[in-house]
Formats: sequence, C-alpha cells, structure tokens
Amino acid sequence: MATYEKHHAWSILLRLFHWMFALSIVFLVVTGFYINNPWTNTMIEGSASFPMATMRFMHYIAAYTFSAAVAIRLFLYIFGNAQERVWDILPISGRNLNNLKMTLLNYSYISDEHDSRLGHNIMAGTSYLITFVIALTMILSGFFMLYPEATFWQGWGVKVFGSQQSARFIHHILMWWFMIFPVIHIYLCIWNDCKGPEGLISSIFTGVKFKHKA
Ligand code: HEM
Ligand code: HEM
Repeated sequence: MATYEKHHAWSILLRLFHWMFALSIVFLVVTGFYINNPWTNTMIEGSASFPMATMRFMHYIAAYTFSAAVAIRLFLYIFGNAQERVWDILPISGRNLNNLKMTLLNYSYISDEHDSRLGHNIMAGTSYLITFVIALTMILSGFFMLYPEATFWQGWGVKVFGSQQSARFIHHILMWWFMIFPVIHIYLCIWNDCKGPEGLISSIFTGVKFKHKA
C-alpha cells in the first residue's frame, strides 16, 4: 500500500489571493456585462432604484478587491515560499522546460509519465502568469476609465491604450479571458485530482498537498 506524507505547499496569503481573485471575478463579469448592455428597463434608471449606479458601485468594490489580490500575488511572486516565487514557474530552466514537456505529453494522453512536484506544473504556472499580466491590464484600463483626469492613470492610460475608447474595448475583450480561463482551469484541477491522489483541490483551501513517501 502506498504511503503518503503531508507537505505544506501554499501559504495563507496565497489562498487568500486565490479566493479574493476568483470571487471578485464573478462580480466583475456579471456587473461588467450589465455596464455594457443593461438588461433592466431603462425607465427605472432615473428613479430611486438606479440599477446602473448599483452595478457600477459593485463593479468598483469588486475591482478594489481584485486589485488588492493582484498586489498580494505580486508580493508572493517575489517574497513567497519556494512554490510561490516566480522562478518556480518560469519556463526557462532545464528542469522547468522538462516539466513543461512532460505535462504537455501527459495532458494530451500521449504519455502516462507525470513529473510530480510540490508547486504548480509549468503549464499551469505559465497560464497563471499570463492571467496575472492580463489582470494588470484590466486594472490599468479600469482605473484609467474610472479616473480619466488623474495624472497617474491618464499618463499610463494614454501611453498604453491611446484613448479611453480603446481602453474600454480592450477591457471588454480581455474580460473573456476571465470567463474562458476558469472553465479550463477548474476542468484541469478536477482532472488532476482524479488522476493523482495528491489532494490538489483541497490544497487551495488547506495549503497542504500529499506526496508519495520516498
Ligand atoms: C477581471 C476583471 C474585470 C472584468 C472582467 C471587468 C469587466 C468589465 C466590463 C465587461 C465592462 C463594460 C465595458 C463595456 O462597456 O464594454 C467594464 C467597465 C468598467 N470597468 Fe471593469 N472589469 C474588470 C476589472 C476592473 C477593474 C480592476 C477596474 C478598476 C477600477 C474596472 C473599472 C471599470 C470601469 C471604470 C468601467 C466603465 C464603467 C462605465 O463606463 O460606466 N474594471 N468592466
Ligand atoms: C471552484 C472554483 C475553483 C477551484 C476549485 C480552484 C482550484 C484551484 C487549485 C487547486 C489551484 C492550484 C492548482 C495548481 O497547483 O496548479 C488553483 C490555482 C489558481 N487558480 Fe483556481 N480554482 C477555482 C476558481 C478559480 C477562478 C474563478 C480563478 C480566476 C480566474 C482562478 C484562478 C487561479 C489562479 C490564478 C491560480 C494560481 C495561484 C497562484 O498564482 O499560485 N481559480 N485553483
């Protein structure tokens, strides 16, 4: 019978980041769709219930939560534990490139071999890094739209997007990443949890993973 031992993988801060990020995205996507194309009767917009104001308010509360989560992740990429630092997931070292190759073969059912590691596999880690960069773009375009006359946001906003209109367009297009990514992400987490008994899904709640005893 195989024996497993417990390993601490994720700090409390990383788990806090994860759930702040995941939950705020749900609110941002729903309220974002409303801002783009309000589905209530426009006659009530001018009344006391004013749903557009409520939706925008919820969008901004979620946006601040989202931005705080991204700041936490930036801190952890530099100062987090060994699994959380950016070096652990960058596909640049020989070990990481080999993990990327093995994960690709394993995920496409070409090979059964699995390069087990405590942190993220490199394919997952790279997708999280891309998500982080897209999240930064959402923050910049969002704050540029929110505070168009603030020197800081205007300076960067104009430099990166050119105009408010293109910032809004990019903000909208990139929203789709936050709908498509979680579907694939949750599917792959469940797939991995079924294939390997390391307790992957519970690790994002408890911080603990299980490994074969050497
Ligand atoms: C994953 C994160 C986010 C998603 C999915 C999202 C989604 C959206 C969408 C779909 C819209 C409507 C754009 C349109 O009309 O087509 C919107 C508008 C907006 N968002 Fe976000 N957003 C996110 C993050 C943020 C952040 C971090 C901020 C920062 C404050 C922000 C501020 C705004 C502002 C100011 C608007 C324009 C509101 C208006 O025109 O009245 N968003 N967002
Ligand atoms: C029921 C929903 C969810 C579950 C069960 C879940 C589960 C997990 C698990 C198990 C991990 C660690 C996986 C690994 O080691 O590679 C993880 C990481 C991650 N998840 Fe989720 N997730 C959920 C929703 C979301 C959503 C909605 C997002 C946002 C788009 C998200 C974004 C991320 C990110 C960015 C990471 C990497 C954490 C890091 O930066 O180290 N997750 N999730």
